[in-house]
Formats: sequence, C-alpha cells, structure tokens
Amino acid sequence: MTKSIGVAGKGGVGKTSVVALMLKRLLKEDLEILVVDADPNECLPEVLGIDRYSTLADVVERHTGGSINPEKFIADFETLIFENEQDGFDLLVMGRGEKEGCYCAINNYLRRAFEEIILKKYSYDVILMDCEAGLEHISRKTSGALEDLIVVSDSSKTSLRTIEKIKEVAENVKKEIRRFHVLGNKINKDFEEELKSVTERAEMHYLGFIPYDEIIAEYNSKGRSLLEIPENSKAYERVKKVVSQLILSEK
Ligand SMILES: Nc1ncnc2c1ncn2[C@@H]1O[C@H](COP(=O)(O)OP(=O)(O)OP(=O)(O)O)[C@@H](O)[C@H]1O
Ligand SMILES: [Mg+2]
Repeated sequence: MTKSIGVAGKGGVGKTSVVALMLKRLLKEDLEILVVDADPNECLPEVLGIDRYSTLADVVERHTGGSINPEKFIADFETLIFENEQDGFDLLVMGRGEKEGCYCAINNYLRRAFEEIILKKYSYDVILMDCEAGLEHISRKTSGALEDLIVVSDSSKTSLRTIEKIKEVAENVKKEIRRFHVLGNKINKDFEEELKSVTERAEMHYLGFIPYDEIIAEYNSKGRSLLEIPENSKAYERVKKVVSQLILSEK
C-alpha cells in the first residue's frame, strides 16, 4: 500500500522545508519513495541540493500543437522519472511551462500521471507532495491521489484562515483526501492554543508544531541542502516525530 501525503498551506509557511525534512527521515528506512514538487515555482530541488533535473512541463511542451497520445505520454513520463532518479528516491517536478495557459494543462497531466501511471504501474511505499501555496491542487483534485494532507501554518492570521479555506474547498469538491492534519511551523508554545482551536473548528487532526530554527534559515540562505542539516536540529527532531506518527507507525 502506498502512503501518499501532501503538504499544503499559505505561501512561505514552510511547506518545502517540511517536505525536505520528512524526506531526510524517510531516507533512513528501506522504502521506495517518490517526491513530487507540485508547486510551479519549483523550489524543492534546490532545497534538496539538486541542480539538474527535468520537469513535467518540459515533457508537455515537447509535444506542441495538441494533446499527447497516451502511449507516448507514458513512455516520456517513465523516461522523466528515470532521468531524475536520486540517491534513495525518485523526483517528479511539475514545473510551470512557458506558454500562457500552460499551467492548467500541466496540472491536468500531473493528475493523469498519478491516476494512469504512478498509482497503477509503480509501487512506491511513500509519495510526498509539496503542494503550491494556492488551493488549486485541492480544487482541481490534482491532490485526489493523496490520502493525507498536512496543512502547515505559522502564526499569521492569513495562514490560519488558509486552514479553514482548505477544508471548505475540499468539502466542495467532495473531498477525496482522507485525513487532514495541521502542523504549526516557526511558532512557539504561546501560540499553540490558538492553533489547536482553529484545527479543532476545522475538524482536522493536530500534529504539533516545529519551532523556529536558525539552522533552517541559515541553510536556506547559504543554498545548502536541508538533507544535510544536523541530526539534533530542533526542527528536524520534531519532524522525525511527525514521520513516525504518520508514516512509519503504519508501515
Ligand atoms: N522552522 C523554521 N525555522 C526557521 N526558518 C524556517 C522554518 N521553516 C521554514 N523556514 C524558512 O522560511 C522560509 C519559507 O520556507 P519554505 O520555502 O519552506 O516555505 P514554503 O511554504 O514552501 O514557501 P512557498 O509558498 O514560497 O513555496 C524559508 O526561508 C525557510 O528557510
Ligand atoms: Mg515551497
């Protein structure tokens, strides 16, 4: 059984950092892992220290003038996964595409790739998806392949509102996601009660919080891979618990 988890939330709350730290922990296990950067701004590879990769947008753009025939799409997609292979995990980057209107098409191809290829032909143990800041993946059901969604929130009002909005949108499209979680990031204990009560109102599951950690900010500003942060970093300690609770306990 594949365990598929998306990480969503308002812009800048720490989605990409959380995905990178979860991956760091998962790499210690003997698991088949797929990491998906579904944010058109594609920051995840950089945060993981990967500088050469191709995107789904590159595949779609190679086929100009209409739709791609299904067999060709599968072949090209498999080549993409093969070429992007990393040490211990596979990487799928959605990308943005250069042409106007491309974004929707690429989003649709991402959904197709999930429905027709990834979930049918591959046998990943874990799929981790870094979602974009908007609610697009949820409203378009690109996230339909996800079992669990972690909504990351800092202490800003807008990020708290995003928790509620995500739940609303998910309900409107007859949510396919099975469980919704909230994970605080860059917050301290003083803010926890408020975050817990928003989580409760949205009928989601509270996963705790990650404190502000200078090491993350430092690695980010120096362009160093978050996979290399020290084992005893405060943030990583918390993320390890989240991974145990959400993924490893069920494996
Ligand atoms: N726990 C933390 N402690 C300190 N800094 C953090 C922490 N989590 C994230 N950051 C910093 O916050 C900034 C935003 O983080 P990140 O890029 O992970 O957010 P995001 O939600 O993926 O953003 P976007 O919406 O732009 O994709 C980065 O500079 C990152 O280094
Ligand atoms: Mg990001």
